[in-house]
Amino acid sequence: MEVPWPFFIAFVDKFKHRIYNVRIQAVHQRKGVVTGNEEKMEREMIVVLDFGGQYNQLIARRVRECNVYCEVHPYHMDLEKLKGMNPKGIIFTGGPNSVYGEGSPLCDPRVFELGVSILGICYGSQLMAHMLGGHVATAPVSEYGKTEVEVDPGRRLFRDVAPRTICWMSHTDYIEKAPEDFVVTAHTPVCPVAAMENPEKGLYAVQFHPEVVHTREGMKMLHNFVIDICGCKGDWKMDSFVETSIRAIREKVGKGKVLCALSGGVDSSVAAVLLAKAVGKQLTCVFVDHGLLRKNEGDEVEAVFGPDGPYDLNFVRVNAQERFYRKLAGVTEPEKKRKIIGEEFIRVFEEEANKIGAVDYLVQGTIYPDVIESGLGKSAVIKSHHNVGGLPDHVNFKEIVEPLRLLFKDEVRRAGLELGIPEYLVYRQPFPGPGLGVRIIGEVTAEKVKIVQEADAIFREEVAKAGIRDLGQYFAALTNMRSVGCMGDERTYDYAVVLRAVLTTDFMTAEAAQLPWELLGKVTNRIVNEVKGVNRVLYDCTSKPPATVEME
Ligand code: XMP
Repeated sequence: MEVPWPFFIAFVDKFKHRIYNVRIQAVHQRKGVVTGNEEKMEREMIVVLDFGGQYNQLIARRVRECNVYCEVHPYHMDLEKLKGMNPKGIIFTGGPNSVYGEGSPLCDPRVFELGVSILGICYGSQLMAHMLGGHVATAPVSEYGKTEVEVDPGRRLFRDVAPRTICWMSHTDYIEKAPEDFVVTAHTPVCPVAAMENPEKGLYAVQFHPEVVHTREGMKMLHNFVIDICGCKGDWKMDSFVETSIRAIREKVGKGKVLCALSGGVDSSVAAVLLAKAVGKQLTCVFVDHGLLRKNEGDEVEAVFGPDGPYDLNFVRVNAQERFYRKLAGVTEPEKKRKIIGEEFIRVFEEEANKIGAVDYLVQGTIYPDVIESGLGKSAVIKSHHNVGGLPDHVNFKEIVEPLRLLFKDEVRRAGLELGIPEYLVYRQPFPGPGLGVRIIGEVTAEKVKIVQEADAIFREEVAKAGIRDLGQYFAALTNMRSVGCMGDERTYDYAVVLRAVLTTDFMTAEAAQLPWELLGKVTNRIVNEVKGVNRVLYDCTSKPPATVEME
């Protein structure tokens, strides 16, 4: 049982309002999704069955690091569908439940009879014990964090693993007694069955999490399972991702027309270039400049994707700034602003799509972390996507193409570099779909946008000059506060700009970066001197939680 899960649920609930692409869910169900990687389904693959654990994406990623294709599916996926995928192995994830709790997620018992090797992790291990005749109970002492585990190195799963190895534990339940036909292969002083197996049936279980880096030899264990036990060759390579995707997209799309909503962010840019390389002029990219982009961003996107850029695609730039500003006039409530920006984006996109006429495929830059598939029957697919408003309902298309659906951000960046996308685009920091709209507290006006754009450009320039590279995200925002100042003996009553720089890896939590005082001083001087309408610069020292990264 994984304790941080309620925190995660609370997080998702709290930020549901920010997840704009929920509508995509219905469209997916209606139209089906093409990753462009379907041909890999013919190849050897591992299926991760998701019981609601936090680390399901990480497990998939670790399997890919073994060069084996991997997909995550809900624990209750149809058995025939699972069989049809012909997996070489199955991994059960952890999860927040107790196996003996009412309504706890159980897999189809026939999964154990498929003759496919299974590795149960945490809840997955308890489930295996519970369903196969062992006994799971509340542990007298819960184990959290780094724990020394004694393993039997003679077992295939633990080949080349030290007999005493540090593993990451996170459980309040434990397997008290393994099923009759299982052998216990690891234990800790408080956990009698830290691992167990029935090698004849290809069933393996570990109470700890081999997928997290804190389990020092976890990667070895996963490699042993995937390559040695499941017998995968490990010939799936990220390097060949681009080549294979292009081939698969060409086959899939044929002579069809493809439409892409390009935001200029990393994900949609990489997806667009992949499609451009695959189908060229059959692709039209619609780039909506909503007037809430960073300084020069619209022109930078046009330079890469427009007619003077290196790609042979149809590029439509819609300068809709005034339209957005009109809609936002007088609106101060953050959620209302977000909604207006999202809806207006959809309207503009729809209008352009209608000019193009019926399209066969719609491209989405969805990446793996955008897809939270909880096998618990809550919201089956939740997407947070950098495009502003999700998918328009009325665009006439047959299928969605999501070529990056399997990749993590750093993998998307690698694919982008391989595709020849300029580094400054590939390594761009994340930028929210509603853009500067959520970095201007209160009403958005063209004047305020200009102030933030200029201040932000100065901040970014100075951070780059200072050679600071490890920031998760950093930007300038506009407080809605005006205060008294004096400039050249004159009284001023101007805005306060706030600088925010955070250290984070997952953006779920973040801490304020301790930027050098000298740098902050330089940025402050430049902003008050160069940006009209600003007489004060503040630095946001708040972590997340309790604050968020963005202002609104
Ligand atoms: P918060 O403000 O929620 O931001 O702490 C966490 C991360 O999400 C980005 N963000 C968004 N991205 N659409 C997006 O595509 C949005 O509406 C949105 N709101 C926040 C934010 O920039 C940060 O990286």
